[in-house]
Amino acid sequence: MEKIVSLCKRRGFVFQASEIYGGIGNTYDYGPLGVELLRRVKDSWWSAMVREREDVVGLDSAIIQNPKTWITSGHVGGFSDPMVDCKKCKSRFRADKLEDARCPEKPSKRPGACEGELTEPRAFNLMFETNVGPVKDSSSIAYLRPETAQGIFLNFKNVLESSRLKPPFGIAQIGKSFRNEITPGNFVFRTREFEQAEMEFFVPPGTEQHWFDYKDELAHYSNFTSDIEYEYPFGWGELEGVASRTDFDLKRHSEASGVDLVYFDPQTKEHFTPFVIEPAGGVNRIALTLLIDAYEEEQLADDVRVVLRLHPAVAPITVGVLPLVKKEGMPEKAKEIGAKLRRAGLTTYYDEKAAIGRRYRRMDEAGTPYCITIDGQTFEDDTVTVRERDSMAQSRVAVKDLVEHLAAATQAWRRMR
Ligand code: GAP
Repeated sequence: MEKIVSLCKRRGFVFQASEIYGGIGNTYDYGPLGVELLRRVKDSWWSAMVREREDVVGLDSAIIQNPKTWITSGHVGGFSDPMVDCKKCKSRFRADKLEDARCPEKPSKRPGACEGELTEPRAFNLMFETNVGPVKDSSSIAYLRPETAQGIFLNFKNVLESSRLKPPFGIAQIGKSFRNEITPGNFVFRTREFEQAEMEFFVPPGTEQHWFDYKDELAHYSNFTSDIEYEYPFGWGELEGVASRTDFDLKRHSEASGVDLVYFDPQTKEHFTPFVIEPAGGVNRIALTLLIDAYEEEQLADDVRVVLRLHPAVAPITVGVLPLVKKEGMPEKAKEIGAKLRRAGLTTYYDEKAAIGRRYRRMDEAGTPYCITIDGQTFEDDTVTVRERDSMAQSRVAVKDLVEHLAAATQAWRRMR
């Protein structure tokens, strides 16, 4: 993880948030490459989940909803971790994770096994509170959403009526969620502000069971849950949760709001509250797994090269555009070719600083699948060198064929992996 964290900072993927003020506990900002990576993750998810399907539509709901939302959903009452406080050092720990915790004063001991006495467990709600409007009192309390799902449930009727879909159909949403995690950590794996990609799939009751074949740790709204886990350098951890949420949320919101959220099937004349199957992934965790999977230290004959073998579909930069030297018209020619590639929809990065070998290495670390080099020969026969990141193979390609060549190479990549 240390190597990934250091590469992320060095190449501009992820920075510590508020770094110049000493940071703010496990909060991160995404730099020029990181924001491109996140966007590509979200675009891929959105294409697969919404655009390529005819039974799923999108939504972008507000982060701050009416606070009744969270009372009804059970988050005010149930979205909490049991916490204990150490009476001696005043540190707070999750009561159900004491075995993994360490006493800050005596790190060889776990809390409670040191000299400190622990309080009885108390529920600590994970939602961030804020106040809406000019008056700060209990009537103005609102919450930053801890999941994007509730915004989908609140809009079930709006979407149903405006899109004229019928169950089974889904509503997908990507957006920020906030949880006052007690033990954030492992870089961007668990943070207090993160992005979720969730889809609520509304199905007729009785058809939800076949999605699942085992039970696991269940959320308070769920009757079946399965997690998709990934083996991070710090151990196995959840990447995406898939839950059968029953009709819990729609029924509760229907009762609490007085708005009928029942579906009427005009063909069968049946009324029913749909059951919900929910795949819920974390955008930041997906980006982290991509970085971990892609990171490689490759032993070469006389050197070790650090390379991010990112798939071109998620690589922040597709083509590095490099003039061999900073003179003889090469920078101008390189910029002209770069502009042509950008007009064709490719993301480029122009670099003229340092020796060509070092520039290739910088692009390898950034995960850029291709580099093109403009040299003296370019002015003779209008060709450039195309260098492939993974094999480091180089070939000469005519400038007029470049877009097609890179598109074909990317397509081949897609088919291969
Ligand atoms: N609506 C269901 C729901 O929110 P979840 O399992 O709590 O389910 C879904 O969250 C996904 O959101 C997780 O699988 C994880 O990828 C991501 N996630 C949850 N808490 C997170 C955190 N504190 N930091 C980063 N990602 C988080």
